[in-house]
Amino acid sequence: MSPSKKINELRSLLERHNHLYYVEARPEIADAEYDRLFRELETLEHQHPELDDPNSPTRRVGGAPLEGFNQVNHPVPMLSIDDVFTEEEVLDFYQRLQKNLGRKSITVTIEPKIDGVATSLVYRDGALAYGATRGDGLTGDEITANLRTIPSLPLTLKTPFPAMLEIRGEVFMPNKAFARLNEEREEAGLQTFANPRNATAGTLKQLDSRLVAKRPLAFIAHGLGAIEGLDLLSEGDFRSLLNSCSIPCNEPVWTTDSSNGVLSAIRELGQRRLELPYATDGAVIKIASLSDRAALGATSRAPRWAVAFKYPPEQKPTRLLDITIQVGRSGILTPVAELEPVSLSATTVSRATLHNESFIHDRDIRIGDTVLAHKSGEIIPEVLKVIIEDRPPGTKPFSMEEHLQGTCPACNSPIVRRANSESKERPVVTWWCENPLCPNKAVAALTHFAQRKALDLEGLGESVAIKLVESGMVKSPLDLFSLRIQELSGLLLDPARLQTGESSKPRRFGEKKAKLLIDSINDSKADQPLSRWIFAMGIPQIGESASRELSRLHKTLPDISSSEILRTICLLADLEEERKEVSPHNKDRPPRDDAERSARKKLHDALRERIQKAEDEIADYEISPDIGAVASRNLIAFFNSQHGKEFMQQFERLGLCPESANFLPRPSEASAATDMPLAGKTFVITGTLSQPRSIYKEMIEQGGGKVSGSVSGNTSYLLAGEGGGSKRDKADKLGVDILSEDQLISMLK
Ligand code: IVH
Repeated sequence: MSPSKKINELRSLLERHNHLYYVEARPEIADAEYDRLFRELETLEHQHPELDDPNSPTRRVGGAPLEGFNQVNHPVPMLSIDDVFTEEEVLDFYQRLQKNLGRKSITVTIEPKIDGVATSLVYRDGALAYGATRGDGLTGDEITANLRTIPSLPLTLKTPFPAMLEIRGEVFMPNKAFARLNEEREEAGLQTFANPRNATAGTLKQLDSRLVAKRPLAFIAHGLGAIEGLDLLSEGDFRSLLNSCSIPCNEPVWTTDSSNGVLSAIRELGQRRLELPYATDGAVIKIASLSDRAALGATSRAPRWAVAFKYPPEQKPTRLLDITIQVGRSGILTPVAELEPVSLSATTVSRATLHNESFIHDRDIRIGDTVLAHKSGEIIPEVLKVIIEDRPPGTKPFSMEEHLQGTCPACNSPIVRRANSESKERPVVTWWCENPLCPNKAVAALTHFAQRKALDLEGLGESVAIKLVESGMVKSPLDLFSLRIQELSGLLLDPARLQTGESSKPRRFGEKKAKLLIDSINDSKADQPLSRWIFAMGIPQIGESASRELSRLHKTLPDISSSEILRTICLLADLEEERKEVSPHNKDRPPRDDAERSARKKLHDALRERIQKAEDEIADYEISPDIGAVASRNLIAFFNSQHGKEFMQQFERLGLCPESANFLPRPSEASAATDMPLAGKTFVITGTLSQPRSIYKEMIEQGGGKVSGSVSGNTSYLLAGEGGGSKRDKADKLGVDILSEDQLISMLK
């Protein structure tokens, strides 16, 4: 089979399995088989850069960061929708339709209003051409690179498809994934997202699509924009088209031709919507017939043929009985609201995270207050605000410092306060227990170390971890490697609860389970690759993908502990900060006179050169944003800490030496086939061009060249449109050739 045929076959196969997994939730092949096919395609694409396609499933991992988003005009304006809040208003809407269309029976559909971010997708000849945000309704941001990373969003359509199809839909973050993301952020001391919609909007705004690929977004279609080459008559036709093209479609849907039918559908959806895996805030009622829609038309703001019934958000007052403190694996201390139990969005809620001290202070939340509780995204219990009129006398503001008396609630060792400034204006204040031997931290660290995604140790869950730490057998994860069957068999577990409601006698861990656990501990020495080990160590900000990236860049753990790459990443961040600070254009600290200006300019230019040098040193590694300055600093801090040094000593004493399974030495300079016109050349694109940048990027890559985000000593050419200031300056300075669009095209010929 020809490579081109094989590549096409693999691409459609992978897209099909992707759809089965992410949209239909009924995979037909094992993950390992999917990975194998994916790697096969990757290898073939690498060997045949001329067959590159931006819609290949391999592109879902994201690409180089953009400088900004291009603007695109929507083929048809993206309108808003009129909201109604009562059943009477719904009846008014239906009566208006009857009057305006001059007949009694009007077929309408009722479907959930997904609380996400409105998106338009344009498919030409069955392939995603571009996607955009709503923007002002006429013009939006072109965010194709970000959208491509969304697994449930089809990059190619199943045949038969119309020549051109513009789909409107919602990008959102499923509730469970949102909860997990916030937990991770809380654990890392980062600001959490208020709800899934904010998390989605914040993610889609990222210029680095590789970061977007790591966030669990999903897509569901709910409307038709423009279409060419096919006539549709009704909502039913539209839905059949979505199904036959494998575009995920908004469900459940009710169809009715009476006003009573509408009311019962919105009531039923009101019950069911809380069980949907994503946040919804209403029911959208639409006329089914497309010709009726055209006849009714739209105001400048919203169509006359649709309306959104908004469900009242479930918020209830309850009493804040107490504030307790939880200790996380990283040592972060999280305040938790102990609430008088209250029923909210289908469950009883008695605890809610208060995130951090800033959250409590911003809302002036005090113990004893009556608070308004809700479920964020209908899933995460949260305190919205204090009902100030109901504040009992004598409450005082909550202070973590006073409450904890400066010590960790689990180990009584001193705690420290840090202001994490992800956003400079509103730093998040967090408290941390820094005692590496804190029992709560030790339990969390041990559970993390043993979990499936880490070293996958058999039979070591949270309850066993608690007992191992309580008994003193294990103080830190590496102690596991010195455990003996005999002592482990004797470990006393909590009595089990019997079905009769009584408790059993205290149980021992037992020889059989002890043997299994010790075997799996021993196996992990030889079997688990470096990436699992790094993840298992639980260093802040080092999750699974950062661990994999570290093991791509290093062969062993000692290599990481003395890594030049990590040092360079930190140095770069420091230099960049210094450069901004001394820049004569620093608005916060402008130069006082010409002498200072020129001195600072000199310093600034010198820093620029050092930055350039450092960038050049690591450019070839193409390091993913998982290993940024924060992650690198955390790693270096870990290896320099007393705890880290002891860890490494124990690690060596135990004779542990996991090796990287994906180690890639510095990539060779020219990987592209050399007979291609742009082989071995690196391009940077800047300024306003006559076509979207993605098109030029594709042309360059098809010619065997590479496109990078910033000008450096490795840049061969700068493709420059109008404007493009700083990159053009840098290229001038480094003597990089600057090309016009026409020059690029003639090079490709
Ligand atoms: S249909 C032209 N259906 O709500 C108006 N919109 O419309 C027809 N939305 O930002 C809109 N779920 O993206 C429609 N099932 C649904 C929807 C839905 C969410 C969003 C839409 C828009 C907003 C107002």
